[in-house]
Amino acid sequence: MITGILLLLLAYVAGSFPSGLIIGKTFYHVDLRDYGSHNIGATNAYRVLGKAAGAAVLLLDTSKGVLGVYLGQWSGVCFPEYMTYTMIAGGLLAIAGHSCSLFLKFKGGKGVATGLGVILYLAPQETLIVFLIWAVIVMITRFVSLGSIVAALFVPITMYLFGEPAAIVVFGVIAALFVIIRHKDNIIRLLQGKELKVKRINKN
Ligand code: G3P
Repeated sequence: MITGILLLLLAYVAGSFPSGLIIGKTFYHVDLRDYGSHNIGATNAYRVLGKAAGAAVLLLDTSKGVLGVYLGQWSGVCFPEYMTYTMIAGGLLAIAGHSCSLFLKFKGGKGVATGLGVILYLAPQETLIVFLIWAVIVMITRFVSLGSIVAALFVPITMYLFGEPAAIVVFGVIAALFVIIRHKDNIIRLLQGKELKVKRINKN
């Protein structure tokens, strides 16, 4: 039982790893929190530091979500009848760690890439559809935030339509609400016509 709980706590610690901040500071001597949208996620890493940094942050942050669910699954070995719930808990804890990081005084990112990793593991077919929705919106508008918000809405909808267990659909609702709330500033900027598009910026 203790092992199961420790594994779930590990999902939170893994989610807390601030990939964007570490890549920015280590390889570019730049603190992402000082530029662009001030977010530590892949979009701002691309905007401020370029393609390689954006791709690396996306990969690492997505991996944290996959790892969280995996740790939850491992934890479920201790509580076999609750495996679905421990997987969901591992995923949620990874997203929570990313956004309320143990290493950043409980601040952090918006949970999109880490959430992507979580749903990739929990519901791969739905992830493909949601990713396509996100990609089309971003291609048309150039606003990643708008793509993320609309894609988040479609997470529980597609989970429901694919007949996932109620616990997974409820997880989808919680994760979507969380991601949308984390985009509060983006929503305000979108409404004011001040949102940053996904393009490189000059940080000088
Ligand atoms: O994943 C975060 C994205 O949806 C928005 O990022 O940097 O434009 O606030 P950003």
